[in-house]
Amino acid sequence: MTSAQQFDDRLLPLWTDDKLVTPAFVYDELQITDRLELLDIVHEQSGCRVLYSIKALSFASVLKTIAEYVDGFSVSSLFEARLAREIIKDNGTVHLTSPGIGTSDLPEIAEYCDYLSFNSLSQWQRCKPYAMHRQCGLRINPGLSYVKDERYDPCRPWSKLGVPLAQLQDIRTDSDLLDGISGLHIHNNCAADDYHQLEKSINLLIDQCSDLIARMRWLNFGGGYYINDPFQLDILNKIACSLKQQYDLEIFFEPGRGIVNHAGYLVASVIDIFDSGGKTVAVLDTTVNHLPEVFEYQFKPAVLQESATGKYSYCLAGASCLSGDLFGDYNFDKELQINSRIIFANVGAYMLVKANMFNGINLPAIYALGRSGKIKQELNFEYKHYRDRL
Ligand SMILES: Cc1ncc(COP(=O)(O)O)c(C=O)c1O
Repeated sequence: MTSAQQFDDRLLPLWTDDKLVTPAFVYDELQITDRLELLDIVHEQSGCRVLYSIKALSFASVLKTIAEYVDGFSVSSLFEARLAREIIKDNGTVHLTSPGIGTSDLPEIAEYCDYLSFNSLSQWQRCKPYAMHRQCGLRINPGLSYVKDERYDPCRPWSKLGVPLAQLQDIRTDSDLLDGISGLHIHNNCAADDYHQLEKSINLLIDQCSDLIARMRWLNFGGGYYINDPFQLDILNKIACSLKQQYDLEIFFEPGRGIVNHAGYLVASVIDIFDSGGKTVAVLDTTVNHLPEVFEYQFKPAVLQESATGKYSYCLAGASCLSGDLFGDYNFDKELQINSRIIFANVGAYMLVKANMFNGINLPAIYALGRSGKIKQELNFEYKHYRDRL
C-alpha cells in the first residue's frame, strides 16, 4: 500500500492537534476493529476461534478494545499471561506457548492460562505435573520455511521452535509420552499474505500424522498472517471448516501483527535541519529506539507525507548519539520546517513493546484515535520512568 492510499481524513488530528505532544504513538481503534470484524466473519462461518497474540502490542487499552471481539488471548510469558487474564477475565481463554517456560513460573502460568502448548518433548515432560488441570498441547514444527530472513523464520535450520514433524511421527503411537496431550499448535510464518502457505502446512501435518490428529481435541494455527484480503480469509475459512468436519476439532487462529500493525502511527516533530556533505538532514524528536525493528531489520518505515516525486529530499535522523540512528531518505512536496510533523505509518506491531529509553530519550506518549475521530492521551512517561527502569 502506498503512503498516499493510507492517508485518511480521520488522521488529520495527527498533524493539526496542538495538544498532541510529540513524539507520540497513536493507535487507531477503528482500524483495529475493522480487522477484527473481518475475522468475526470467519468465526461465524467456520467456527474458528480467534485469539489476539498480545506480544505484538500489549498496551492495556488496546487489549480492552480487542477483548470485545476475540475468543481469547495468546501469550508467551508469565507477565503476558497475567495481563491477558486481568483484561479478558472469564470472558475468553488464554493460550500460551514459549520455548522459555521454567518450572518455577509454571504453577502461576497455569493459573492464568487455559491452554498450554509445549515447545519440546522435554519441556512437556518437565512441566506435565504442574499443567495437567489445563488443556495441554504440543507445538509442532512442520519444517516448511516461508520466510526469507532466518531471524523471523520459525522453521530455520536447527530451529528451537516446536517438535519437529519427523519426531512427532516417531512418537505418535507412544501413549505414555502423549498421555495428557489434547491439541497441536503450528505457528510457522511471519508477515505473510498468502494463506495457501497455511493450507500447505496443515496438509503436511495431516499427511504425516492423520491418526494423531484424529485423537486430538484442538488445533492452533498460530499467527503470522495479515488480515487484509477477504479472498485470503476464504482460504482460512475453508481450512477450518474442513478440519472441523473431518476431525471434529476446535480450531484457533492467533494473529498479532495482522490486527494492529496498520493501526499504529508514530508522530514526530523536526527539531533541527542542516546540510551534511550535500544531503539535508532533518533531526526528529524521536529515535529508531522508538521503532526498534527499523534498526534491527534495517528497513525504511513508511511516512504518510512522503511523495516519490517531491522535490524536497531529507535524510530523517533520530535524536540519539548513535550515528546509525536513521530512518532513511525521503522526498516531500513541501519543504520541512522546524516543528513540521512527520508521521510514520504501519508501526503498530512489535515497536512500542520493544521501545527503549536509550540515551535518556523519553518514550513516546500514547494516544488513542477513537472511532469518532477524537484523539485522547492514554499514557505519558516522565523522568521517574527512566530512573526506575535502570
Ligand atoms: C506462537 C506464536 N503465535 C502467534 C504469533 C503472532 O504472530 P504475528 O504477530 O506475526 O501474527 C507469534 C509471533 O511470533 C508466535 O510466536
